[in-house]
Amino acid sequence: MRIAVAGATGHIGTLTASALERDGHDVVRISRSLGIDLLTGEGLDDALPGVDTVVDATNSIATDPDETVAYFGTLTRNLLAAEQRAGVRHHVLLSIVGVQRVEGNAHHAGKREQERLVAAGPVPWTIVPATQFHDFAALVTSWTEHDGVATIAPLLVQPIAPADVADILAEVAAGEPHGRYADVAGPEPQDLVDMARRTNEARGRSVRLVPTWSGILGPSMAGDVLLPGDGARIASTTFDEWLAAGAR
Ligand SMILES: NC(=O)c1ccc[n+]([C@@H]2O[C@H](COP(=O)([O-])OP(=O)(O)OC[C@H]3O[C@@H](n4cnc5c(N)ncnc54)[C@H](OP(=O)(O)O)[C@@H]3O)[C@@H](O)[C@H]2O)c1
Repeated sequence: MRIAVAGATGHIGTLTASALERDGHDVVRISRSLGIDLLTGEGLDDALPGVDTVVDATNSIATDPDETVAYFGTLTRNLLAAEQRAGVRHHVLLSIVGVQRVEGNAHHAGKREQERLVAAGPVPWTIVPATQFHDFAALVTSWTEHDGVATIAPLLVQPIAPADVADILAEVAAGEPHGRYADVAGPEPQDLVDMARRTNEARGRSVRLVPTWSGILGPSMAGDVLLPGDGARIASTTFDEWLAAGAR
C-alpha cells in the first residue's frame, strides 16, 4: 500500500514510517521540514496522489487552549479536505486515552477537536487512543527543568513504548477503517514522578523533582482518568525493558 505519515519527522511519526517500510509499504513523509505545511496546505496536494491511507501523528506545541484547538483544527481540516480531493480511503488519527474525560488541559482540548473533526469528516477513519509514552516523564520534566530542578505532576499512567505505538499504527493503517479503536496501553501502571526519577537515573542525570499539580498537568488529570478502559489492547514492552534498552 501507499501510506502517508503526517508528522513523519516526529517521535512517533519516524518510528511509524520505519515500521510501515519494514512491512513493505510505500511511505510518503509529510512535515514542514520536508516542505509540506498542513496549516497553510503548502505542498499537500502534490503529496497525496495514489495514497491509500494517511496516518496523522502531528503535534502542537501551543499551551493556550484556544491556540491549540485552532492549530489542530486547521491542520485537520486541511488534511481531510486534501485527502478527499485525492481519494484517500482511510484516515488514522493518533489520539490520547482519556481526552474526553480531562477538562482544563490545552493539549487535550486540541486532541478533542481533532477527534471531533475526524469522526464528522469525509474520509473513513480510525482513531487510536494511546496512553502516555514511556518517555513522557522525561518530556514533562524538560518543560520546567532549570538549574537541576524540575516540577512534575504525580500522575497515574499506564505508559507504552513508542515503538509499540508505531507498530500498532502501522498495523491499523494497513487494515480497514475501524471507527474508534480500543485504548492502546503498556503493560503496567506507573507513577509519573517515579518514572522521571528512574529515567534520569538510567540516563545518568541528576535532577531534583518537585511534585506539583500547579503546572500544565493539573488536578483534572488526577485519579484513574488517564488509564486504559475495558477491552484495551496491551502492548508488551515494560517501562523497565525500555529503560534497559536505552530509554529512547
Ligand atoms: N507524548 C505522549 O505521551 C503521547 C501519548 C499519546 C498520544 N500522543 C500524541 O502523539 C502525537 C505525536 O506526538 P510526537 O511526540 O510524536 O510529536 P512530535 O515528536 O512533536 O512530532 C510532531 C510532528 O508533526 C510535524 N508537524 C507539526 N506541525 C506541522 C504542520 N503544520 N505541518 C506538517 N507537519 C507538522 C512535525 O514536523 P515539522 O516540525 O517539521 O513540521 C513533526 O514531524 C501527538 O498528537 C500527541 O498528542 C502523545
